Amino acid sequence: MPENQANFVAQRISNPFLQTPAPKLDDIEYMIQAANRAPDHGNLSPFRFIVVNTEHLEQLGELFLKASANDLNPLQSEKILNMPKRAPMVIISIVSFTPHPKAPKSEQLITAGLAVHQLCLAAKEIGFDSMWRTGALAYNQNLFSLLNLAQNEEITGFIYIGTAFKTKKSPPTKNVSHLYSTFGEHDE
Ligand SMILES: Cc1cc2nc3c(=O)[nH]c(=O)nc-3n(C[C@H](O)[C@H](O)[C@H](O)COP(=O)(O)O)c2cc1C
Repeated sequence: MPENQANFVAQRISNPFLQTPAPKLDDIEYMIQAANRAPDHGNLSPFRFIVVNTEHLEQLGELFLKASANDLNPLQSEKILNMPKRAPMVIISIVSFTPHPKAPKSEQLITAGLAVHQLCLAAKEIGFDSMWRTGALAYNQNLFSLLNLAQNEEITGFIYIGTAFKTKKSPPTKNVSHLYSTFGEHDE
């Protein structure tokens, strides 16, 4: 097994400790190319991304707040307003469903999820860490409207991306034998 390549994926971790620099346009282009190589039944590309650069994070926080309940106390409002600032870039990942005779919505959602994962792996490859978050706002219809999502679209995540200023401790390698079995072999 090529050790470096195996480690890269098998030891992937998320990172909430993110600072500038954020990916640049070329980096984003590379990450989207990788996302677009997700396995995709019917070649539908059932996903798209909204890239929120550092200078627009404040604006995204305002949208988050506008979409939220209006009975929040100042502390809760402040928290929501500042959510996007947990990284120098947020990429909003979206699933776009298209009716298809062979690729049901469930498969399109899988592809959209894989596209996010591909994007995060590509980001890592070029030096950026990331953290996939959702929370209530990912399911908030007000936010869908404020972001101009189409009727056939949903948010799959807020992908926080940037440069690590700290990393989580890598989890120890776990025993995974309960996660697979070999067809045709029995315990006697
Ligand atoms: C669809 C999806 C939504 C997630 N939403 C959140 C979230 O809102 N908040 C959070 O702390 N982690 C969330 N996570 C989990 C983190 O991205 C991360 O996987 C988790 O913290 C475990 O860290 P690890 O990836 O390093 O194992 C989500 C993951 C997925 C796939």
